[in-house]
Amino acid sequence: MIAPERSHEFGVPPLPRLSLVRGEGARFWDARGRSYVDLGASHGVGNLGACPPEVVRAITEQARELIHLGSGYANPVRTAFLERLLALLPASFSRVFLSNSGTEAVEAAIKIARSATGRTKVVAAMRGFHGRTMGSLSATWRRELREPFEPLVPGFVHVAFNDAAALEAAVDDSTALVLLEPVQGEGGVHVATAEFLERARSATERAGALLAFDEVQTGIARTGRLFAFERWGIVPDLLLLAKSLAGGVPIGATVTTNEVAGRFRGTHHSTFGGSPLACAAGLAALELTVRERLAERAERLGEVGRRALVSLPPERVRDVRGLGLLLGIELREKVAPYLAALQERGFLAIPAGATVLRLLPPLVISEPDWQAGLAAVQGVISGG
Ligand SMILES: Cc1ncc(COP(=O)(O)O)c(C=O)c1O
Repeated sequence: MIAPERSHEFGVPPLPRLSLVRGEGARFWDARGRSYVDLGASHGVGNLGACPPEVVRAITEQARELIHLGSGYANPVRTAFLERLLALLPASFSRVFLSNSGTEAVEAAIKIARSATGRTKVVAAMRGFHGRTMGSLSATWRRELREPFEPLVPGFVHVAFNDAAALEAAVDDSTALVLLEPVQGEGGVHVATAEFLERARSATERAGALLAFDEVQTGIARTGRLFAFERWGIVPDLLLLAKSLAGGVPIGATVTTNEVAGRFRGTHHSTFGGSPLACAAGLAALELTVRERLAERAERLGEVGRRALVSLPPERVRDVRGLGLLLGIELREKVAPYLAALQERGFLAIPAGATVLRLLPPLVISEPDWQAGLAAVQGVISGG
């Protein structure tokens, strides 16, 4: 007899929800042994799938040595992880603040930008999502996420995503930070135009403001590049990572330059940030991502997905968009019944807002599972 589920969240849909007990690659199993294909990568955490063996091995070995260490002490695993991460990034990046989640990576960026510039204004985008703590929530767009918690942090403004003129008009000599997702994930899978990002870069440079790319969801090979910004060749001052960075172990990283770090005044710190356990996981996850060329795989399988989805019926589907293995199918009606129908067939996809069906499978998904997932999506949307 399985005990009734106990929720640990606030304001989420009522139980019962599907209860899963085991995972491997792009598959989950329930307690009765039924398997499900994961088309949502646990909201982007599972780029390497569930329980990637290299990460399991790394954290098992690290747990025997040292799980946690205060950041007041050096640790060779932390150093190795930071060096590996920086080696994958443009040379301008040289400093990393480690935390435990995406929202903390964003909070650190806001604090660093305010402190380094001595200014307060933050320009973010409509439909953007940056987290749910008070600073990151102030940058998040959706009214229903914000309103119950107002007043939020003052100084945040939002401009229409991909409206370069509006962004330029908003960036002035009081602006500390422009905070953007290269592909808006939670907000419905909207891809930035090159022009928008280029003009964000030049506007921030002109105004003496900093530019941050929130790659919490798009980072670590998801969009067909190791980091999405590589596609446009536009390098921000701050790069924010989390989700899959440590193969499923909680982590957040705020990466910046020596120049920005040198202007930082004050202190910022996290008790758990940079633990040897998370760093061992992160090191193993980065090695695996590079060795298995997962960015190229995401690009290729993403193309397979796009080709399969173009034939979806236009009377049900408004648009299909995305980059790599971050795909959004915008429906003409609510997405929830389609997600339920997919789950019924053994496929777990996730929404991106009320009407967008989001596909972001583990990058290690087998080709047959991906093909089967795409066929199931076609089936439920076409009514087959
Ligand atoms: C782009 C982006 N930024 C920040 C966050 C917040 O991350 P976390 O839930 O780890 O706090 C998310 C989570 O979905 C995200 O997609």
